[in-house]
Amino acid sequence: MRYHIPVLSQEVIGIIRPEKDCIYVDATCGMGGHSLAILESCGATCRMICCDRDENALRIAKERLSKYSDRTVFLRTNYTDLIEALQQAGIVSVDSILLDLGVSLMQLEEPSRGFSFKNEGPLDMRMDKNLELTAYDLLVRLGEGELTAIFCEYGEEPLSGEISRAIVAERRRGKLANSTRVLADLICRVYGGRRSKVYPATRVFQALRIKVNNELGNLETALCRYIKWMIPRSKLVVVSYHSLEDRIVKTVFRSNKSSLNILTKKPVTPSPEEIRENRMSRSAKLRAVVKL
Ligand SMILES: C[S@@+](CC[C@H](N)C(=O)[O-])C[C@H]1O[C@@H](n2cnc3c(N)ncnc32)[C@H](O)[C@@H]1O
Repeated sequence: MRYHIPVLSQEVIGIIRPEKDCIYVDATCGMGGHSLAILESCGATCRMICCDRDENALRIAKERLSKYSDRTVFLRTNYTDLIEALQQAGIVSVDSILLDLGVSLMQLEEPSRGFSFKNEGPLDMRMDKNLELTAYDLLVRLGEGELTAIFCEYGEEPLSGEISRAIVAERRRGKLANSTRVLADLICRVYGGRRSKVYPATRVFQALRIKVNNELGNLETALCRYIKWMIPRSKLVVVSYHSLEDRIVKTVFRSNKSSLNILTKKPVTPSPEEIRENRMSRSAKLRAVVKL
């Protein structure tokens, strides 16, 4: 199995500056890459709380970090409910929280999860299998206007209207199969000879994933909750992967600036070397704050 390469890992470590006796939270632990880097660079007495809403991710991270099992706690939770989950685990304060947003390589590469148009699979896209609606449920249940709004708002897809019209037409003919390839091919047909900077299905897949998992709503809620709850001198580090997420991070940090010191006046971005070595890092932006 290929592990997800943690993005901006050195920069994250440079901000958190792991020390002994501290408690660090990786609220989107995924395959555990950042957690491992933090554990490797802090003293033998620091503790790591690894959270994710995806049970497969947590299982992989648990195995990968087994060497540190005496100092790691794994919590399956939506990061919006992090504070309650920590309190239930008897943890009343922490020294830093990391949010590395987006999807992990495991989710993208597993065809049955339906996140990628590169693999044939069902249009699922749920990070948490307990979520009620899959991407396919949205495509068969929502009206043309609602689909257009999702593609437009969460994917900034220029052909949102045409794509949702084609989806609804296919659906009426009973031809909209629960298949990543079927959807990707339909979008390519709508594009026809028109040019697109990215593969034509990229933006619609992103939009569906964001909607299915309520990614933007979760992000805003979580940031506001964390900032209120954090103790003085604790840090919050967020790595985002598209402008919609980065805008939320920037806005929430700025609107709470009376209680925060913003450590990144401009977002930190990966070096050309990191982008060359890990394409998944190419759109990353890191912002960090410390509670006053
Ligand atoms: C980019 S990956 C993290 C990769 C990780 N830093 C590593 O190095 O392996 C993002 C992770 O966030 C998780 N995630 C996304 N939204 C979440 C939420 N609301 N609550 C908890 N986990 C979430 C996903 O399941 C995924 O595993």
